[in-house]
Amino acid sequence: MSTLLLLSGPNLDLLGVRAPEVYGTMTLEDHVSRVRELCEPSISVTHLQSNFEGDLVEAIHAARGVHDAIIINAGALTHYSWSLRDALEAFDGIAIEVHLSNPAAREQFRRHSTLAEVVDGSIAGFGQLSYELAVVAVRDLLAARD
Ligand code: DQA
Repeated sequence: MSTLLLLSGPNLDLLGVRAPEVYGTMTLEDHVSRVRELCEPSISVTHLQSNFEGDLVEAIHAARGVHDAIIINAGALTHYSWSLRDALEAFDGIAIEVHLSNPAAREQFRRHSTLAEVVDGSIAGFGQLSYELAVVAVRDLLAARD
């Protein structure tokens, strides 16, 4: 059994009510359930949402040698968090960055991701499908690794 850590950053706890025209009407729990469903039966999923950068950094540290893969939607931290970037760089497993919206097509401040250079790949702009594609990528990379 492989293990996946799904990380959700600031404000993602408001999914479903926050700017539904941008992020859709699904709640975070809906996305997490879908990821769990797609991971069955071979990948167990642990999810953490936090509005605090340090919680996410510590979760990535704790994932070292424990989880095979991380899927992270870091919310706005994506655009300025060097500590999350460094934590992910020190993670030895697969790491995928996801976004529901397409930050490259939005405000200028969203166009840079500090995480992009240390993850295996980034998926953005497809709503729920972003998470589904991330699971496909994790499965593929895990299979290539075995
Ligand atoms: C987001 C995009 C970020 O720019 C934003 O700050 C979020 C959500 C997304 O999933 O589209 O909180 O990560």
